[in-house]
Amino acid sequence: MSAPSYELVTLRGGAHSIRSTAHGETMHIGTDPCTEAMELHVGQQRLAERVAACSESPPFVVWDIGLGPAANAITAITAIKELNGVGMVAKSVEIHSYEIDTSVLEFSLLHAAALKYLAGWEATVGELLVSGVARPAPGMTWHLHRGDFSRSRPEAPSPSAIFFDPYSPARNAEMWSLETFRMIRDAVADPDAPHCTMTNYTRSTSVRVTMLLAGWFVGTGVPTGEKEETTIAANRPGLLEKPLDGAWLSRVRSSTNSSPLRGRNYERGPISPEDYARLITHPQFS
Ligand SMILES: C[S@@+](CC[C@H](N)C(=O)[O-])C[C@H]1O[C@@H](n2cnc3c(N)ncnc32)[C@H](O)[C@@H]1O
Repeated sequence: MSAPSYELVTLRGGAHSIRSTAHGETMHIGTDPCTEAMELHVGQQRLAERVAACSESPPFVVWDIGLGPAANAITAITAIKELNGVGMVAKSVEIHSYEIDTSVLEFSLLHAAALKYLAGWEATVGELLVSGVARPAPGMTWHLHRGDFSRSRPEAPSPSAIFFDPYSPARNAEMWSLETFRMIRDAVADPDAPHCTMTNYTRSTSVRVTMLLAGWFVGTGVPTGEKEETTIAANRPGLLEKPLDGAWLSRVRSSTNSSPLRGRNYERGPISPEDYARLITHPQFS
């Protein structure tokens, strides 16, 4: 019998989360799953406020990259559903979740009571797993796209909000590559594409360089759990409250871990003169 791939862990403070034994990583480290989802993704991207402000059509689209045990998706759905509770007309919202291996979600469902945020969601998540789409609220659809996100251009409509939440670059390099960030950027490259923000837990210089070279505007994100800062990217500069500036750019040059990530292997190193020359021409720094 093969060893189980996931285990339920108790976080400091008593909440539960999931640890992938294969990747050696605990999800939502430092805080409970929903607090991280709310602070880092849903709150920082002002999701409920933006949904409330958008018109009925076209739908407001969220990409949830790395569905995992679904804390980000459920926190987002709950925040949007609460709009109806305060008398908002039901908006048209599509959540598109991407996942290479849904066994983590299946495992989490077995521990829904301990994880708390999944309790009461078993039928909706079950429907998502079985049919690939669920309807968690009037006007809202939740889609599951199975497979390796880094290898296929998503067919979902252009997103307004992206929760970018794979494992760390050291364990999940293909998701953090220039090629993957360019593919996501291409989805919001059209001048008619919606204003789009993308949040992530890292503050790594090499990841930020990679996002910039892929065409994103990149800023400092909110603190969450044990992290003093995170990263937020956008397809338009005006969407960032704290864009990375010239002082950050000059630190890139002396950093030993500032080379953009390419391909499917995690290789660290200083940025090359050619990549630095491209970086300083980014409109964010002009
Ligand atoms: C840190 S967990 C996500 C936690 C989740 N967002 C939540 O809110 O609970 C990372 C997830 O990304 C998924 N993942 C990693 N590489 C992937 C890939 N190439 N394509 C799609 N999903 C991937 C993993 O299987 C894992 O479930």
